[in-house]
Amino acid sequence: MSAKRRILVLHGPNLNLLGLREPEIYGATTLAEINESLAESAGEQGFEVDCQQSNHEGVLIDWIQQSMGRVDGILINPAGLTHTSVALRDALAACGLPIIEVHLSNVHMREPFRRQSFVSDVALGTIAGLGPPGYRLGLRALMERIQA
Ligand code: DQA
Repeated sequence: MSAKRRILVLHGPNLNLLGLREPEIYGATTLAEINESLAESAGEQGFEVDCQQSNHEGVLIDWIQQSMGRVDGILINPAGLTHTSVALRDALAACGLPIIEVHLSNVHMREPFRRQSFVSDVALGTIAGLGPPGYRLGLRALMERIQA
């Protein structure tokens, strides 16, 4: 039997507060619940997810670098770093892995600074505004791409 394929799921700053943080924007679902649902969806397709969250840009970059040659794709919600981090974008571009960018909220309906993403053009695609189901849709798209 072939080895399980792996996806690194990265959550950026403040996403550890999901469920408590601005629920009118981000909803009541916790990060643990999102991760559980991703693990279940991945398992159904013979994949494994490694879910990590950090409030620190450099830690996220270290995880991306360490994932090279060890995972088959990255699902990332870069959170606030989406709009600011050239370094995170460079790490994602350098890793050579298929990437899907996810946002819980519709960043295009919010403040103008959220419309810029340093990640979107190094990602296969971006999902925004669909809440927690957006993560599952992104995961499904990534798994299909990896299996193609
Ligand atoms: C977010 C949107 C970002 O603008 C914000 O900074 C976040 C969360 C989202 O999931 O909607 O922290 O990425």
